[in-house]
Amino acid sequence: MTTDTTTKDTAPGTTPGETVLDARGVTMRFGGLTAVRDVDLTVNSGEIVGLIGPNGAGKTTFFNCLTGLYVPTEGEVRYKGTVLPPKSFKVTAAGIARTFQNIRLFANMTVLENVLVGRHTRTKEGLWSALLRGPGFHKAEAASRTRAMELLAFVGLDAKAEHLARNLPYGEQRKLEIARALASEPGLLLLDEPTAGMNPQETRATEELVFAIRDQGIAVLVIEHDMRFIFNLCDRVAVLVQGQKLIEGDSATVQGDERVVAAYLGEPFEDAPGDEEAAEVEAAEAQAGTTKDTAPGKENER
Ligand SMILES: Nc1ncnc2c1ncn2[C@@H]1O[C@H](COP(=O)(O)OP(=O)(O)O)[C@@H](O)[C@H]1O
Ligand SMILES: [Mg+2]
Repeated sequence: MTTDTTTKDTAPGTTPGETVLDARGVTMRFGGLTAVRDVDLTVNSGEIVGLIGPNGAGKTTFFNCLTGLYVPTEGEVRYKGTVLPPKSFKVTAAGIARTFQNIRLFANMTVLENVLVGRHTRTKEGLWSALLRGPGFHKAEAASRTRAMELLAFVGLDAKAEHLARNLPYGEQRKLEIARALASEPGLLLLDEPTAGMNPQETRATEELVFAIRDQGIAVLVIEHDMRFIFNLCDRVAVLVQGQKLIEGDSATVQGDERVVAAYLGEPFEDAPGDEEAAEVEAAEAQAGTTKDTAPGKENER
């Protein structure tokens, strides 16, 4: 499948169309439960890729396999051609940053400090020096603060740099998480439900923010339940159902796939109607002359 991304300038060192993320045969089992089963997924530079699926489909678990939080039971994850080390901080250092479905900020630190902590993989001084203000810290501090303030301005939080993170409204906490993730200067950003709990206005602003991130040369993989958000934003969308990839394609292809609709309604997709059957139903409806309110009657099933 080709994706026609109208890519803007990519960041220096990023080859347009380069495979940034290459996950192959990723399987994650917890005891008897297979949360992710043999999933392949690639993300290329300049792309925004969506990952959707019902609750419990394995989306977050898959993210955790990509970021070294979990070591997959089977499979391999490569970032720009190199197999990732099985440790979160090493994955971040390699160039993958993420946000969490359940916001994880340092609630009692300021907004600026939260972003500075996010920079620790990019400064020689490291996390503890940054937190404890050790001797090497002050030299790097000025440059780090400048960059952190730039990132806060980028997400629209520079005016709140000195506020405590816990005092931010929910939507702004999500933005702060994104700024903190960007502070590690990633080549790939993973967003786990970035608009959860946001109002429509905030969601639209987040859409613009993700486009702006992409335009800076950072590839994006995003999990979200808001279908309008996903289909507006993504060059490609992959659908996960019960741990398996059901379909992958551009927004139109995925939106038009009946198995996707069925998966969201919780019906078994093995028996999803094929094209023939769908055409029959359509023809029957056309003949009956009442296409309204006569969606294929599933009420009596199961
Ligand atoms: N650490 C874990 N231990 C055991 N089961 C888990 C763990 N993490 C997730 N699961 C299970 O894996 C399945 C997929 O969960 P998750 O990845 O959170 O789904 P999603 O993000 O798509 O809603 C669920 O059945 C969940 O209960
Ligand atoms: Mg999840």
